[in-house]
This record gives sequence, structure tokens and C-alpha cells, in this order.
Amino acid sequence: MSKINIAIVGVGNCASALVQGLCYYEKAETPEDSLGLRHLFLGGFHPRDIQIVAAFDIDQRKVGRDLSEAIFAQPNNTPKLVEVPWQNVTVQKGPVLDGVSQALMRVVKVSPKEHVDVAETLMRCDAEIVVDLLPSGAVKASQWYADQAIKAGCAFINTTPVFIASDALWAWKFEEACLPVVGDDLIDQVGATTLHKTLLRLLSEHGVRIIETYQLDVGGGTESLDTLERTRKVKRIVKTRSVSDVLPYEAEVVAGSTDYVDFLGNKRDSYFWIKGIHFCKVPMQIDLRLTTMDSPNAGSPLFDVIRAVKIALQRGMKGAIQSISAYAFKQPPQPMPQEMTERMFQAFIKGKD
Ligand SMILES: NC(=O)c1ccc[n+]([C@@H]2O[C@H](COP(=O)([O-])OP(=O)(O)OC[C@H]3O[C@@H](n4cnc5c(N)ncnc54)[C@H](O)[C@@H]3O)[C@@H](O)[C@H]2O)c1
Repeated sequence: MSKINIAIVGVGNCASALVQGLCYYEKAETPEDSLGLRHLFLGGFHPRDIQIVAAFDIDQRKVGRDLSEAIFAQPNNTPKLVEVPWQNVTVQKGPVLDGVSQALMRVVKVSPKEHVDVAETLMRCDAEIVVDLLPSGAVKASQWYADQAIKAGCAFINTTPVFIASDALWAWKFEEACLPVVGDDLIDQVGATTLHKTLLRLLSEHGVRIIETYQLDVGGGTESLDTLERTRKVKRIVKTRSVSDVLPYEAEVVAGSTDYVDFLGNKRDSYFWIKGIHFCKVPMQIDLRLTTMDSPNAGSPLFDVIRAVKIALQRGMKGAIQSISAYAFKQPPQPMPQEMTERMFQAFIKGKD
């Protein structure tokens, strides 16, 4: 198979999990070796076919360093999962734009270096896919890098909650450029939103009437800090809408991020509360906590999305790709029931879409 040349924008915690995952699964051949992955092979591609050819950041502890070192530089707090050999990819300085919020000023040290010409760098490195791993509140920066991807002839994967693939104007820009775009806001492998939706659907299908429910979480990564200041509101809207959609009736639903607790490190605690009534209107309730490590939770979906976008490129697909976006993102161009997204994605991989 040909290689998949990707450029990553933002060498934060998600990037750390991605790079470490690529090393961890490089030699995986058997189902035992591939524990933790949804697909070892996808459309014929193995994770080792993914090759990082360029990386951009703004923090002086990352810019100018090899990716193998930059992923472990502060303020990243993803634990070391594997030895990462020298990657031969030097992190380049991108423009700051709105990448650093007031809250992040405390933990990010902006490099004084001049930023590089991003589109030119992407072309020189033969990048074919740009993966946006910027802080979720960096709206202008995400849009700017989407534009650079178009200029350089690259597909775009938007893991952030900024509206790009789900925005008609951006989808049109990629369509005009004959390039695929997918997003927005990546779904976690063990996602609190997915778990919440699955529980509600299961209870509803069993005749339980949900009266009220919430899912709120706390985390200790810089992403939680940024969310606290800039995106709590939008995340709450996106998640609440996504959760409410599974109920065929009105109920009190609240879902979203709540707070930053620095000593949690890269850990995330999600709390679920569900109150309902069942037979003869007898009440029931569920009170749960899910604890995950945040950034490795993005690894397996990212592996799938990168390989799927490569397939879309090979097929000459353009604009917002619904089958990939609905499978792996919380805010696809058109929201769809979860049970349909899996079928649609598998059909896409088999070339039936
Ligand atoms: N499980 C997950 O981690 C998960 C799941 C879904 C979506 N996401 C999304 O992935 C994105 C990345 O998350 P993260 O935890 O890695 O965040 P992070 O804060 O750890 O990393 C962001 C990185 O972007 C860099 N940056 C800031 N402005 C920049 C600019 N203008 N140019 C280049 N780099 C810049 C920062 O220095 C930092 O290294 C977020 O938008 C998040 O919502 C993550």
C-alpha cells in the first residue's frame, strides 16, 4: 500500500497519543497485538502506513525540536506509553492567531521565532492530509489552517469543535478545491457522549421514560483549561443536542464539560445521572462515573479517520464526506442515528457509498 503523508497542526496531548500509538502498533500483526484498536487494517491500510511528514506548534518548548521530544514537552501531560524513536520531523512555528486564550497564557510559552510559510511547507513535505489538533477555542487558527490546506492541495481533518466540515461555506470551499474535509469534533473511543446516548437508547427501548439526565466532566489537560474559558458553551450545545437526539420525546437533558482540575493530569472523570420511570410509573435512577485517560481516547478514531480520508482522496472525493464525519465526529454535516453511522462507514470502506 502507498504511505499516508499527514501534517499535524498542534503538538499537544492528542498529537502525543497519535505519535505514540503509531510506534506502539507499528509491528502489530495479530488480533492480540492490535488490542485497543477498532481496525488493524482499514481498506487495506495498516497504522504503520501513516507517516507524519510535518508538524506545527507555537510553544517554544516544542518549536525547533524533533517530534519525538516535542510530544513529551510541557505543558503536555499524556503519559509515556512507549519509547518513541527519533522521528526526523522538526516542529515548525505556525502563526499564533487565537491559539492561546487568557487561561492558556499561564501554561503556554509562545516561541519568539517567525512563523514559517505553512502552505509552502505542506507542499515541500508532500503532505496530503492536514490533521487539525488545535485547542478547541482556536476558531481563527483552525480556519486559517483549513485555508492553508486548500492552498497546498491537502485534505483536512478537523478534530476540534470549530464548525468547518459542518459549515456549508467551508464544505463548498473544499468542494471547489476538489479536496475532502471531515469533522467536526472527534468522537472518543470510550466517549462519555456515546456511553450516555447508548444508555438512554437502551432504557428507552425497554420502555423506560427518561425524565431528566446529565453528563458532566472534569479534566486536567490544557484542553480542559481552554474549554473552561472559551468553548464550554458551544460544547454544551453540541453535546446536549447530540444526546437529546436519541430520545423520541422531550426530557430534561444537559451534557457538556464542566471544569478543569490540574492535579487530574491527562485523566478525565465523567459523571452521569439518569432519572426515569418504568412499570406502573415506578422511579429508577442511575448514578455513574467513567474515568479515562483523555488523549489515548482519541487514538483509535484518529487512526480510522486518517485511513478513511486517504481512501476518499484515492477515490477523488471532494467536499464534506458525510460517511466519515458521521462515524467519527460529534458534529457531522448531517446528524444521523448512531446505529446507521457504523453501517454507512463500513459501506464507504467497501466502496459501496
Ligand atoms: N480525547 C481527546 O483528546 C479529544 C477528543 C475529541 C476532540 N479533541 C480535540 O482535539 C484538539 C486537541 O486536543 P489536545 O488535548 O491535544 O489539546 P492540547 O491543548 O493538548 O494541544 C493543542 C496544541 O496546539 C498548539 N497550538 C496552539 N495554537 C496554535 C497555533 N496557532 N498553531 C499551531 N499550534 C498551536 C498548542 O501549543 C498545543 O500544543 C482539541 O480541539 C480537542 O477538542 C480531543
